[in-house]
Parts: sequence; structure tokens; C-alpha cells
Amino acid sequence: MNTIIITGGAGFIGSHVVRLFVNKYPDYRIINLDKLTYAGNLANLKDIEDKPNYKFVKMDICDFESVMKLMQEEAVTGIIHLAAESHVDRSIKDPFTFARTNVMGTLSLLQAAKLYWESLPERFEGKRFYHISTDEVYGALEMTHPEGIEPPFTTVASSGDHHLAYGEKFFTEDLKYQPHSPYSAAKASSDHFVRAYHDTYGLPTIVTNCSNNYGPYQFPEKLIPLFINNIRHRKPLPVYGKGENVRDWLFVEDHARAIDLIFHEGKVAETYNIGGFNEWKNIDIIKVLIQTVDRALGRVKLETSKTGETVETYPDMDLITYVTDRAGHDLRYAIDSRKLQRELGWEPSLQFEEGIERTVRWYLDNQEWMDNVTSGDYQRYYEGMYANR
Ligand code: NAD
Ligand code: TYD
Repeated sequence: MNTIIITGGAGFIGSHVVRLFVNKYPDYRIINLDKLTYAGNLANLKDIEDKPNYKFVKMDICDFESVMKLMQEEAVTGIIHLAAESHVDRSIKDPFTFARTNVMGTLSLLQAAKLYWESLPERFEGKRFYHISTDEVYGALEMTHPEGIEPPFTTVASSGDHHLAYGEKFFTEDLKYQPHSPYSAAKASSDHFVRAYHDTYGLPTIVTNCSNNYGPYQFPEKLIPLFINNIRHRKPLPVYGKGENVRDWLFVEDHARAIDLIFHEGKVAETYNIGGFNEWKNIDIIKVLIQTVDRALGRVKLETSKTGETVETYPDMDLITYVTDRAGHDLRYAIDSRKLQRELGWEPSLQFEEGIERTVRWYLDNQEWMDNVTSGDYQRYYEGMYANR
């Protein structure tokens, strides 16, 4: 019997992973271990919370004694570790919380897994500790081609009109770690601990480093849901710096599919990069978001150009507001995920413009979810982060 702890299962990516595993593997027992910080929300899992193979446990990953006890009582055979503090801007204001959760929390899980599995007759046989990390540990890539060039690879995700790379280099698995933000430094440190537990004790670990995810249930502190919500309410859109920074976007369900595949078929001690093959400058994404929301809400205006043509205009373009840049803002992220493509046959399944359309539609259709997560503390967070910026 497989009994798997998924940490951070009430968060954005975690909730998609929990949903996939609970629905796909009725004979597994899935335990969602989550502290329910501001980012954790059980409403993300309403559709599966009554399934017999699902259980929620409110717990802090840093609480080693409780994690150890849970592993013993439930006879846990695998851990998929997503719990983390995940927002770069918060890490700049409060780095200690990031070190505590991301580093000490990961260490507490590793030690509990090691001690519990070592106490069994079969030891590490059939066990797996899978750590979910980020491409941000590699630091920032240069933007050698701001106008864009054709990338050396393509997938379904990047098959739309926009298919560009903004530099010649990509993040590969063998690249040196060069984190710049307290968030990425804490994630990098946790990755090192995971590998050290394999190399020192033989713990069967796997690490994956993924690019920026987007999709339903993402907390509206991150670019895409924050901007969709602001456009809807006609609030200013705070674009950091010149909006020229590049991110590589992947639909969250494609990340969850990769996690499922790698958990089952990935090789112990390996690292796999997971990416969208899909680079976008922030300002270009923001324009797509405005067009998509304005279309969905019937705000598009038809005007006659000087040459007599009828053209569509998007009134919410006025909301774009350039603000002070993020400190240490990484210029470009771009994943080379060909190892995963080659060795395990994974590729993104969703074309980006379609994914954005689905995502915008989901947030507009789930306004109650958005209203719940933006009530109370969120207003204070927003003021603190964006007032006088
Ligand atoms: P999130 O912030 O939406 O969710 C984090 C979850 O972890 C929340 O449910 C929260 O309650 C829980 N949590 C936080 N501290 C905890 C603690 N001490 N004990 C137990 N639970 C705790 O994050 P996300 O965007 O879903 O990211 C999940 C993981 O994926 C993180 O490890 C992140 O570094 C990694 N990742 C995220 C992205 C992305 O684009 N969001 C990309 C690559 C990797
Ligand atoms: P974010 O979603 O915070 O992800 P990350 O920093 O982990 O990549 O930000 C994505 C990009 O959008 C990043 O370059 C910063 C930028 N950004 C803004 O311009 N304004 C904002 O209000 C936010 C939250 C992000």
C-alpha cells in the first residue's frame, strides 16, 4: 500500500498535485500535510475532500516530533514536498520566515523520513522523498537578444504566435547554483540538504526545478492572479521596473503531471528541470491579460482609425503603472527541460494562449474564491507592499 504525504497540499501547486493523485490513484492513501499559512486554503480542495483515500492534517513541517509521529502512525512510504514560503517580495521583507520554513522545515522532513524508514526491515526499499524546487536557484540569465530569437526547441505550449527566446543560454540541470533573493537562497539551501541526505545516508531522493507556474487557485500576490483581479476591479497594475523581465511560464496542471511521472518513474538521486519552453516579457503577458479580461467582460471598444478601419481598443491598458523595481530583480529565467522530455517523455500539453484564456475565465468565474482570499489580511499586505512604491 502506498501512503504518501504531500506537504503544502493546500497551496497553489500542491492542491493540483493532491487532486491529481487522489483521483488517479484510488488505492493510494494521500495525506495532505499543511500548516495553512496565508497561502494555504482548504477551499482549493473542496471537490476531493470527501474521498476515502484523502486525509488532511494541519501541521507545521518544522515540527519534527509531530512529523515523525505521523510517519510512524500512517506507515508513510513516500513524501512529495511542496510546502514552502514561495513569494520573492515577501522574502525581501521577512527572510527569517523563509529560512525557517524552507530550510529547517525541509531538514525536519528529511530527518523524520530517514529515521522512520531506517527503522523498518526493508529500510529505503520502495521509498521516495521527492523535493519540489524552483528554477530561481540558478540565478538570472542574460538577455542577449531583447528583440527575441527563435528558440532551439518547441512544444505544444509555445506553438502560438509568440515563440521567442530572449537569450542564447538556458538553465540546465548541471548549472551552478547562484540564487539572488532570500526566497531562492532558502530553496537552494533546501535542495543541497536533500542531495546531502542522499549522498550521506542513501535516502532515495529526487529534486525537480520548475519554472513559473500559472493557473487556477494561485494566491493573488503573484503576477498573473494579482493582475487579473486588479484589471477586473480597474485598479492600477504595478509593473516593476520597465516590465522587461522574462519568465518561462508553465500551466500548473502540466507541472502536476510531471510530478506524477517523476515520482513514479524518475531515477533516484537525479535532478530534472521542468519548464514551459515558453518565455515571455512581463509587459507582453500583462497586455495579453488585459486583452483577455476586457474581452471576457465586454469592455473592448471599437474605434475607427485614421485610415477608416475599425479597430479594437482595450480601455484597461490605461491601468499599466510602472513602479520602483524589485530589489535584486532577476532579469531572465528560461528552462531547458529536454532531459525530462528525452528520458521520461514529458512535454507541456497546453498551448500558452489557451492556458491564459482558461486561467482568466477561472478567476472571473470564481470571484467568491478571490473575494475570500483577498478579505482581511490581504488588504494590509497590499498596502504594505505597494503603497508609496
Ligand atoms: P504556495 O505559497 O501557494 O503554497 C505553499 C503551501 O505551503 C501553503 O499551502 C502553505 O500553507 C504551506 N506551508 C507554508 N509553510 C508551511 C509550514 N511551515 N508547514 C506546513 N505547510 C506550510 O506555493 P506554490 O506556488 O504552490 O509552490 C509550491 C512549491 O513549488 C514551493 O516549494 C515552491 O518553491 C515550488 N515552486 C513554485 C513555483 C511557482 O511558480 N509557484 C515554481 C517552481 C517551484
Ligand atoms: P512573481 O509572480 O512574483 O514570480 P517570480 O518573481 O517568482 O518570478 O513575478 C513574476 C514577474 O512579474 C517578476 O518578474 C516580477 C513581476 N511582477 C511585477 O512586475 N509586479 C507585481 O506586482 C508582481 C507581483 C510581479
